[in-house]
Amino acid sequence: MQTIFTHIQSLFGIQNDFLSAIKGHDLDTVKQLEQAWMLIEDDRIVDFGSMENFPSGNYDQEINVAGKLIIPTWCDSHTHLVFPKTREEEFVDRINGLTYEQIAANGGGILNSAKHLTTISSAQLFEDACQRLEELIRLGTGAIEIKSGYGLSLEAELKILRVIKQLKETYSLPIKATFLGAHAYPLAYKENKEGYIQLIIKEMLPAIAAEGLADYMDVFCEKGFFSVADTDRLLNAAAKYHLKPKIHANQLYNSGGVQIGVQHHAISVDHLECVGDEEISCLQNSTTIPTLLPAAAFFLGISYQPARKMIDANLPVCLASDYNPGSCPSGNIPFLLSLACTQLKMTPNEAFNAVTYNGAAAMELQHEVGSITRGKKANFIISKTLPSFNLIPYSFGSNLMDKVYINGKQF
Ligand code: NIG
Ligand code: FE
Repeated sequence: MQTIFTHIQSLFGIQNDFLSAIKGHDLDTVKQLEQAWMLIEDDRIVDFGSMENFPSGNYDQEINVAGKLIIPTWCDSHTHLVFPKTREEEFVDRINGLTYEQIAANGGGILNSAKHLTTISSAQLFEDACQRLEELIRLGTGAIEIKSGYGLSLEAELKILRVIKQLKETYSLPIKATFLGAHAYPLAYKENKEGYIQLIIKEMLPAIAAEGLADYMDVFCEKGFFSVADTDRLLNAAAKYHLKPKIHANQLYNSGGVQIGVQHHAISVDHLECVGDEEISCLQNSTTIPTLLPAAAFFLGISYQPARKMIDANLPVCLASDYNPGSCPSGNIPFLLSLACTQLKMTPNEAFNAVTYNGAAAMELQHEVGSITRGKKANFIISKTLPSFNLIPYSFGSNLMDKVYINGKQF
């Protein structure tokens, strides 16, 4: 089945070859073709060019998208999309003066979600996750990573990871699963933290690996959560099952998470609200992708990530949503782009590359998605009528996505 899109106002985000993540000032360059056509066949992008050289032929479908942009779908490399219940009561507690850490220390936060996970059925967990995922796809997300971490027991972690597997089987967009058993110490192990680490290493990891439920291993490496030494042991254990790290680092403190992630050749270190020169130079000597989650900083009202400093240091900055019920109850990437531009002072081009190509790289999917490239999956967005891409981050709160194609099919 061949479909050709014609009169595209701008075919945005073209890459001719498969590179590693885009670094530093190169992030500000986006290749685009104005007045373009694009041909897709089944689930792949086959070719594109300028309307001046339009290849007439017998296509199954010819779609005129005059005035509209075609852009690759967003690649959201950090979410906690599968969770049992929203936590708006904690949102109000924070408005009334409690901090995220105080709420967590009182048994709220991640432990609150873990408590609710024991009572929700797997069917309901799946159905809620489907609704959230479909909302995100309609907003343009075309590849996503989803973490466990609200189970905190063998059975409950398996429950959440099996739901992620079911999502992989149900939807045609690429989904990566990350095991985040080391998200918080469960109540039962409050006085026996070593016991919980042993449970992860000796029981959870082997069971998860035996069912092939995870692509990556995550640890919330933070003061009050998992220490650098714990993270080191957990990542060593995960490596035995070939689970590469993608870790939560430096959200609340300069806690050493970046350094231990880099030492373990993490695919990415994520959050990075608290990074200084030491962390930046450590990242410069690595292949680890720094993934910024400004929507979580926005929602918690904490300081934003120093994106400009990282771009100036030639780092391959990536952006992701962090969709979760505690620190970021939204996976809306158009809004994330607005935040990145207004608060992190990233240009629209930088923000675009960070959440498409670099998002794909942070899930090791850059050969499949993340740009308009011949041979890549036909996962793309057709915008509403727009003069330029800049209107998307500019129009914060609006949805300028008209249609989303996943694997060559309109969603
Ligand atoms: O990425 N920081 C740790 N984990 C999540 C929040 C989890 C929660 O509050 O439910 C995050 O912000
Ligand atoms: Fe997170």
